[in-house]
Amino acid sequence: MAICSRIISTGSYLPKRIMTNFDMEKIVDTSDEWIFQRSGIKQRHIAAKNQSTSDMAVIAARNAMEQANISPKDIDGIIVATTTPDQTFPSVAVKVQSTIGVPVGVAFDIQAVCTGFIYALSIADNFIKAGQLKRALIIGAEKMSSILNWEDRTTCVLFGDGAGAVVLEAQENNSNSGILSTHLYADGGLRDILYTDGGVSTTGDSGHIVMHGREVFKHAVNLMAGAVNAALEENKLRVENIDWLVPHQANIRIIEATAKKLSLPMENVIVTVQDHGNTSAASIPLAFDKAIRSGRIKKGDLVLFEALGGGLTWGSALARM
Ligand code: UT7
Repeated sequence: MAICSRIISTGSYLPKRIMTNFDMEKIVDTSDEWIFQRSGIKQRHIAAKNQSTSDMAVIAARNAMEQANISPKDIDGIIVATTTPDQTFPSVAVKVQSTIGVPVGVAFDIQAVCTGFIYALSIADNFIKAGQLKRALIIGAEKMSSILNWEDRTTCVLFGDGAGAVVLEAQENNSNSGILSTHLYADGGLRDILYTDGGVSTTGDSGHIVMHGREVFKHAVNLMAGAVNAALEENKLRVENIDWLVPHQANIRIIEATAKKLSLPMENVIVTVQDHGNTSAASIPLAFDKAIRSGRIKKGDLVLFEALGGGLTWGSALARM
């Protein structure tokens, strides 16, 4: 019997400290009105100085394990999508593994910036299909505040910190649920429109985010809609079959424009960007967890995830809950 993977639970974590747009007005030349109109963001959560990406990842992971009622010994793999690891090495994933007490298994980080969660989900899905994992924690965790230039108003008002997680489990392919497809893409030719101006093998430090926002915006809508259409085509589905779109939470205007391009009503789109800004790889699992816990996304629903980030990287994943 062929094996596929199914999302059995979700978890998330947002740091206690909230910075509103009014707080941002005190730091850079901006306004609540500009930030909200251009991005839909009202506030972001900022991690404490001594709070690392792995600290946030651990809380989200425990949250997801609790929801599934499983213990660390039931997990045999951990994949963390992050652009802001605690250290250059070892990975955030091995820190999570030892902190929560998962026995020896697969643990590694992946870096695809804002598309990281979809990349990680796809990798884990393929590991499970190949029989190499049975139950995996997939985590998106970011301390974006640590790579922001707090004097650059074009970027610092947009990002926030947080973590989200799902537990992915192997199951027989005959049940009408699980990950139905994943589509991943990258175009390194577009790497200069969103990047950090530093790195360990160049400047010796992480650098800060630089974004040509208008350029990224232009590509985002077309590329994400393309990834969604690829998922629909492969599964012989139409947009009307989708119960929920859970997009990367970067900008409400990008989310609305993508939904419009797909002819998908906004009632079917999960939006949380107003509450936490762009949390990169954490944004999809954060939005997903909120929608699951509030009862909006239910068992049997068809859920489509899509994201785009630095690289450029982009992709989609389709799942029956
Ligand atoms: O998650 C990874 C993917 N990232 C994204 O998807 C982000 C994609 N891009 C965007 O979301 C939007 O492009 C932004 C929200 C970043 C910017 O919105 P925009 O409508 O594209 O604005 P813009 O960059 O064209 O800037 C418009 C004006 C400029 O002034 P001038 O040149 O027209 O005089 C900026 O200098 O707004 C100015 N501006 C600001 N004003 C007040 C830029 N940042 C700010 C600010 N407050 N924080």
